[in-house]
Amino acid sequence: MMSLNLSRVVLFASFLLLGACAGAPAAVLDGPLVVSTWPFGRHANDKAMEALTAGKSLLDAVELGIRETERRSSDGSVGLGGRPNAAGYPQLDACIMDGPSRDAGAVGGVEGIVHPISAARHVMEKSQHVFLVGEGARWFALEHGVESIPIEDLKAKKDAWVDGHRPKDVDRNGHDTIALLIRDKDGHIAGGCSTSGAGGKLPGRVGDSPILGSGLYVDEEVGAAGATGIGENVMRYCGSFLVVEFMRQGMHPQKACEETVHRIASLDPRGYKLDICFIALDKMGRYGAAASNQRFPFAVASNGRSVVVNVAQVVPR
Ligand code: GLY
Repeated sequence: MMSLNLSRVVLFASFLLLGACAGAPAAVLDGPLVVSTWPFGRHANDKAMEALTAGKSLLDAVELGIRETERRSSDGSVGLGGRPNAAGYPQLDACIMDGPSRDAGAVGGVEGIVHPISAARHVMEKSQHVFLVGEGARWFALEHGVESIPIEDLKAKKDAWVDGHRPKDVDRNGHDTIALLIRDKDGHIAGGCSTSGAGGKLPGRVGDSPILGSGLYVDEEVGAAGATGIGENVMRYCGSFLVVEFMRQGMHPQKACEETVHRIASLDPRGYKLDICFIALDKMGRYGAAASNQRFPFAVASNGRSVVVNVAQVVPR
């Protein structure tokens, strides 16, 4: 009972913090807003804001923001610095969605590509397709000049992983993802997502991150949502699409993220032990986030402020 009360207080405190950052529910933000997952999202948000301020497009801002996280690879789970699969090689997933044009592009299980978010954008803009995977995605990225490294250059990393660190099972704690959502000053919306996925995953495993509606969803009329955590627990429920649908019904992004966690937990045999987190923003410039069973720090930039906000896990129903 004590711990339940405590978590309600933490949640309430988080609400106050979120409320303070997001403004009154009816407020319409007049400047741009960028929201992304995890503390490393702050660097991505800053890059995205810089791009918007310099007059670059919404999609440029998404791509440049996420490239920053891929470049840093500092968390060990985005970009080529991310955790390898069970065979010792990182296989990367990414997608990008544009609200105004309703275009999207994605790559899955791609190897040796430094910026999978750029590869995803090329798929969107230079092909008639939406989603390329594996060798085909690598070939397409190389054809369009996306920075790459030879797969053999990853052998040292592979050997170290296989010799010393290969997990018996998928490393459930060892993966994070950047999902980044932007609403520009005119209210247009776009987003992207990039990850190396779960460490030790089977070769060929693709998670939620590049799957539209799961790791990311953008609806120009409503808002956008993105996910991080165990992809299998997001993609079986089209998590990000569900968040956007809840916002379409009139929910604040905070409430929509929470309801999505509750919905999935109510259906899934794991209950709340899902290790999933969502972020969202809406057309009015409001935002929110929720996590199933952990404290979830996410990054927000707007009105000249760039901060990391903590949200407590939802209170199970
Ligand atoms: N959410 C990232 C993954 O499961 O691959």
